[in-house]
Amino acid sequence: MTIPAYKNPTLPVPERIEDLLSRMTLKEKAGQLTQWFHLGPDHHDLIRKGELGSGLNANSSTAGNNPQERILAECLNDLQKVAVTESRLGIPLIFGRDVIHGYRTVAPIPLGMAAAWSPGMVQAANTIAAKEARADGIHWGFSPMLDIARDPRWGRVAEGFGEDPFLAGKLAAAAVRGFQGNEQDAIPQQFAVDRIVACAKHFVGYGAAEGGRDYNTTEITRHTLHNIYLATFKAAIQSGCGTVMSAFHDIGGIPLSAHSSLLTDVLKEQWGFDGFVVSDWGAVWELTNHGIAADGNHAAELACNAGVDMDMCGMMYLNSLPDLVQAGKVSEERLNDAVRRVLRIKFALGLFENPYADPNAAQVVHLQPESLATMRELAANSMVLLKNNGVLPLRSDNLTICLSGPLADRRKELFGCWAPDGQDEDVTTLKEAITGRLGAETRLHHYELADDAVKLARSSDVMILAIGESEGRSGEDNCTTTIDLPAGQEALVESARRMEIPIVAVVFGGRPLNLTRVMDWADAVLFAWHPGITGGLGVADVLFGDVNPSGRLPITFPRSSGQIPLYYNHRPTGRPLPGGSRRHSRYVDSLDSPLFPFGFGLSYTTFEYGNLQMSPTPQTPEISITAQVTNTGNRAGTTVAQCYVRDVIASVARPVRELKGFERVMLEPGETKTILFKLGPKELSYLDDNGHEVLEPGRFQVWVGGDSTAELGTEFEVTPDGKWVGSR
Ligand code: NOJ
Repeated sequence: MTIPAYKNPTLPVPERIEDLLSRMTLKEKAGQLTQWFHLGPDHHDLIRKGELGSGLNANSSTAGNNPQERILAECLNDLQKVAVTESRLGIPLIFGRDVIHGYRTVAPIPLGMAAAWSPGMVQAANTIAAKEARADGIHWGFSPMLDIARDPRWGRVAEGFGEDPFLAGKLAAAAVRGFQGNEQDAIPQQFAVDRIVACAKHFVGYGAAEGGRDYNTTEITRHTLHNIYLATFKAAIQSGCGTVMSAFHDIGGIPLSAHSSLLTDVLKEQWGFDGFVVSDWGAVWELTNHGIAADGNHAAELACNAGVDMDMCGMMYLNSLPDLVQAGKVSEERLNDAVRRVLRIKFALGLFENPYADPNAAQVVHLQPESLATMRELAANSMVLLKNNGVLPLRSDNLTICLSGPLADRRKELFGCWAPDGQDEDVTTLKEAITGRLGAETRLHHYELADDAVKLARSSDVMILAIGESEGRSGEDNCTTTIDLPAGQEALVESARRMEIPIVAVVFGGRPLNLTRVMDWADAVLFAWHPGITGGLGVADVLFGDVNPSGRLPITFPRSSGQIPLYYNHRPTGRPLPGGSRRHSRYVDSLDSPLFPFGFGLSYTTFEYGNLQMSPTPQTPEISITAQVTNTGNRAGTTVAQCYVRDVIASVARPVRELKGFERVMLEPGETKTILFKLGPKELSYLDDNGHEVLEPGRFQVWVGGDSTAELGTEFEVTPDGKWVGSR
């Protein structure tokens, strides 16, 4: 008996897809475009009829914020078996899950990962996550989350890489490569058996939700859309990201899950994206709530025609697309295009040949010592030292430590907002981590109740306060009206201050928090984000000096909620600061500067930048910028050298600074290294309202240093023939 062409692995995939497509009914096609959640035996019938193409392993739209059952390969295999052996065409299911920051080996939240400014570490963390997820039978991870966020009240700021499109774009590409394992900048023709397909989300502009309130409406100009919000997605697509998720919200009245000019014209046509677009959870149906679709039928028509290929957790496509095609409201060509895109990913994942997961794989692959070591290194390198008057690093011998604060001995609270596969018992708490490294004559007193701690603190040499917010206070649907610390925490630090012993505040959080008062009272402040499974160990590594902190803020820390939105790459005003008179763009009741600027972070050593030079790169329109950085302290340490640019005069006002290069530089005490940044047309141009690069001749400023306020700078000029002259 001859096998049908689509089942023949020796034939080229496009031929197999066309053969399969030619055999499918309209209903089966709509089935491939339908994803449902929390699948079990109740769904066997739907699968058997070929009316389900994908499963999402979660039981709520905020999957991951609720305790979940562990994923078991056996359960997924049962479902897959029905699809492969009992449905007419035997098309395998693709299983998706929110693999956002690690899997069983939970990584720091993405905002924390971003603080390490290390594409290599992000790629390594996502490689581990992919292997662990695939071992459980998961094929598709719903990340990276690429929403630039300028409002820390928005709970989902934790899930993204911060406020800067350049940094986030580099990390986006690294995250995609980590999941997919692609060596070329293209969707792999064939994924390795231990990799998963990535999903760039939420396309696009979701981080601009008004008031920092989740799912809220946005107003984004075309200029900002192209230069800020689309940029990270473009980076992910250019590195070969296989899928994209359309967002819940609207921009100026057009919900993103019906936005044909962004989904089709920009994403698919202008950028050539040939993977598939999945809606966010129920977002097709929600077009009725947005008031642009009369009913589910209409919603399916709008979403499919706009370019959404798969309906996540909705039955709109399954119920409506066959009739819509027959009525001529959705073309069969468009339906086929969507199905081809989905099938292409299933073929690339090898699901037709290897549909099942090995039920014994997880116990071998999960929580490997090397994986834990990688996550611990990432966690420690993500932490940002915000203040240190010399109390850190702590010595481990002959010390009495008083440890207190609500997060001192907590497990899942350190995970971060998306850790559906993390297990509480895998986490080392901060208390355990400190206990594990106490040297001779060192004692640790841990007081659950802050009052007791404060009373007894006098007999200690140092007090460590673990404060901030727990994982449940950030992430989806966890927005706040202020970025103040949770109730009582400032009072705790203030009363500890009165004990007149050194205070070290370790602050956990999924967003920038208002630390203005804590900065006054604490002797040292370490911002640890939600650091994941090895976070307690990572904090201890930093506190005791095994790791010299090198984290740098990927997002501005305001002085108060009232300053929001506050971001470093803002446009100039006509009345810029600093200004002499009162008639300038400023507040009368607050300083205007942030508490900590983008890119900021201290170290146990000090660095000095100097000797900025410019030279042409032969044969190219590129400029090479070099500078020297010296470790001027007495410990080895890593600085993150950052390069910022300003286009001084252009047809549109350009940001006061934009990051265009960065590099982690490790230096021994007294050592000097030369760092090099190359600036070419890509770095010096901006995008017009149609997304086309525009490089305008004229003056440019450039700075190199340790954060976005770097003062070491110079100027050059780009001439009308695209060459440059400098320096001034
Ligand atoms: C809704 C969230 O917005 C999205 O990020 C997530 O991937 C899906 N739910 C699936 O859980």
